Amino acid sequence: MVILAFETSCDDTSVAVFRDTVLLSLVTVSQIAEHAKTSGVVPEVAARLHANNALGALGEALEKAGVSLREIDAVACTANPGLVTSLLVGKTVAKTLSETLEKPLLWIDHIEAHMFANYLERDESDIRFPAVCLTVSGGHNEIYLWKSMFERELLGETTDDAAGEAFDKVAKAMGLGFPGGPIISELASEYSGEYRGMFPIVMLGRDSLDFSFSGLKTAVKREIDRRMALNVFEGGDPDGVAATLTSVRSQTRQDSPLPRLGLDDMREIAFEFERTVTEILSRKLFLAAEKVSTKNLVLAGGVSANDFLRKTISDRAEKEGFDFVCPVSKTYSQDNAAMVGILAYYRLREGGTAHSEA
Ligand code: KG4
Ligand code: ZN
Repeated sequence: MVILAFETSCDDTSVAVFRDTVLLSLVTVSQIAEHAKTSGVVPEVAARLHANNALGALGEALEKAGVSLREIDAVACTANPGLVTSLLVGKTVAKTLSETLEKPLLWIDHIEAHMFANYLERDESDIRFPAVCLTVSGGHNEIYLWKSMFERELLGETTDDAAGEAFDKVAKAMGLGFPGGPIISELASEYSGEYRGMFPIVMLGRDSLDFSFSGLKTAVKREIDRRMALNVFEGGDPDGVAATLTSVRSQTRQDSPLPRLGLDDMREIAFEFERTVTEILSRKLFLAAEKVSTKNLVLAGGVSANDFLRKTISDRAEKEGFDFVCPVSKTYSQDNAAMVGILAYYRLREGGTAHSEA
């Protein structure tokens, strides 16, 4: 069975072609360069870029897969949650194709697709149930009890920001680019000092599986402001500091009106922030596992690309006898159409069609 999948929920225009569970092609057109200018996604801009890029990405994906439109057996597309105007572009293309080709159309839930990213390049039996799954992105942050392939129950969610959003906002407060996750992570990895516990580990009570990151974000911003003021006061030379960062250089906002932080300050704050977020996320995941008495842990979503988070969970899992899976490639952590296609495959195999109304 040949499946054509679309994902346009936020700022990536992504198309994938599958033959059953085999990914024949994945083409993702990133909008990062455009959104870096505003240090965040402007919905109208994202939708316009999706509209410009969708057909080109489709053509390239088909060509790479060596498949023609006539060979497609089913079309799948992210329906929600996401930016409404971005979703609309993918949904319109997918619906048009499905009706023209007279093939079934599957509406896919974005968070469920992130969970299914863990099936990519994996044996089906590698994911054991029941599992607890931490789905952590820029737009959402939850813990699910994953009971069986298509059965899940929400155990906890964020009461304000998602962890990825906190990464993005901290990078923005430092005058750095977008998305913030990889930038903060790179800075943090360059810090050689000890963890001091500079920021609050907000757990919302001993037993809670909900999250709150807005207090942490505010504490980090306050620390950034304090150090920037010190730099100005001491006549520090913040200019050009960010330009010394290798992979960050191209994304740094050179027009930032704020005095920049010194590189050492950036590294330390990034390190402390990343450690704090990781503590919160991993403690809650293990707490959830304890509550529902399972030894199976799954990580999904854009923030699952974070090396420190992966390692922290994986080390503790190994020590305490847990089974832990996360996407085999960071490409599958981020928004991508492959996760949409693999979920569509398993749904079709189950005999299902539409997941929800678009
Ligand atoms: O799943 P995703 O691609 O889009 C949403 O559904 O939101 O996740 C994007 C989020 C962004 O907030 C980005 O900063 C974060 O994932 N992210 C990371 C890393 N790579 C991406 N956060 C921490 N560390 C990373 N290495
Ligand atoms: Zn996502």
